[in-house]
Amino acid sequence: MKVLIVDDDPLAMFMTSSMAEMAIPGMAIQTAACAQDAFDLFAADRFDCVLIDYEMPGANGLELASRIHALDPAVPILLCTGAGNETLAADAIKQGVSDYLPKATLSADGLRRAIRDAIDKARQAHLIAAQRKDIEMFAFALAHDFKQPSRQLVTFAELARQEAPVADGSQLDQMLQFISAAAGRLNRLVDGMMEFMLLSAPPPLRPVEVDAIFAGICLALQDFLQERGGVLDLVGSARVMGHEALLGQVLQNIAINGLTYNESALPRVEIACAKVAAGIEIRVCDNGIGIDACDVDRIFEPLVRLNGREAHDGSGIGLTLARRAMAAMQGTIRCEPRPPPDRGTVFVLMLGDAAANSDLAA
Ligand SMILES: Nc1ncnc2c1ncn2[C@@H]1O[C@H](COP(=O)(O)OP(=O)(O)OP(=O)(O)O)[C@@H](O)[C@H]1O
Ligand SMILES: [Mg+2]
Repeated sequence: MKVLIVDDDPLAMFMTSSMAEMAIPGMAIQTAACAQDAFDLFAADRFDCVLIDYEMPGANGLELASRIHALDPAVPILLCTGAGNETLAADAIKQGVSDYLPKATLSADGLRRAIRDAIDKARQAHLIAAQRKDIEMFAFALAHDFKQPSRQLVTFAELARQEAPVADGSQLDQMLQFISAAAGRLNRLVDGMMEFMLLSAPPPLRPVEVDAIFAGICLALQDFLQERGGVLDLVGSARVMGHEALLGQVLQNIAINGLTYNESALPRVEIACAKVAAGIEIRVCDNGIGIDACDVDRIFEPLVRLNGREAHDGSGIGLTLARRAMAAMQGTIRCEPRPPPDRGTVFVLMLGDAAANSDLAA
């Protein structure tokens, strides 16, 4: 194990190094008396852990920590702080420092625990990141390999229908239709899986007008609304911090659900925006068949469908994606049954208020 200790005060450096030697016998220790020397040492040779004094002439410990993290984002860094620096320590941890050690109470035991914990956590994080990458690669490969045969199934079922004289509604005709429908479902599932994987990288957030998104959804669902005789309404307007394409997709999915899982004579979905203390609340309300209170969390899980396939042919992935997209926009989504006597469901979305981020919203 190799540790780099950075401190401009020779006495403090001697004490920390001696304690570190006692804490973990056999550990290789290198020292640097200023930020630049430490940076040069790290650039030339990697370490398992770095201990940095917060207060040094020329650069503070946090600046050095961020320069070192630019070289190796995974290396654990412990910040040694003077008295009364608790607020700074909390900030430091937000900026990626593993832990802080108050100099006044530093002990060999404390140092051993802090170094071991920081290195263990960094190794676990590295392992998880590597496994995640493997899974993503596997999912992409799987999706790619699934799409080709499922496209072929659709094409060949169609070709078979053209080649052989198949009477409409005959058993063979039905079988070919089942093959096409199943292959189409497989394709949609694969697309959903891919979107889910891609949402792991957070998108850039910008001020977004809900009115503009609503107009886009009305346009996209024009045929759908005409076919089913449904109505989409917007009440109020809002400017939220979000991502236009993602929010559009979330609201469109919820609107389609509200119109699809609906047996009213006139299916209606209303999107209402309101400013609340925590940000902007968007309530999407429908007059559909409703969802039992015991199912309101479950429906966000992948592949959960409450109705039989014969009623509606969905993949059960729309709301899983919606929740993931909302989290990527630092927002939330939940579902509630509509209070009686009304029938239907309400989806409540919370997002940041763009007006509260006026520098960005300008
Ligand atoms: N507004 C709603 N009213 C009643 N039931 C709903 C509503 N929205 C969703 N559900 C139920 O929750 C299930 C999950 O919805 P979700 O949108 O995730 O998947 P889906 O609509 O089945 O398929 P897709 O992935 O194509 O959207 C649906 O199958 C349906 O049973
Ligand atoms: Mg759906």
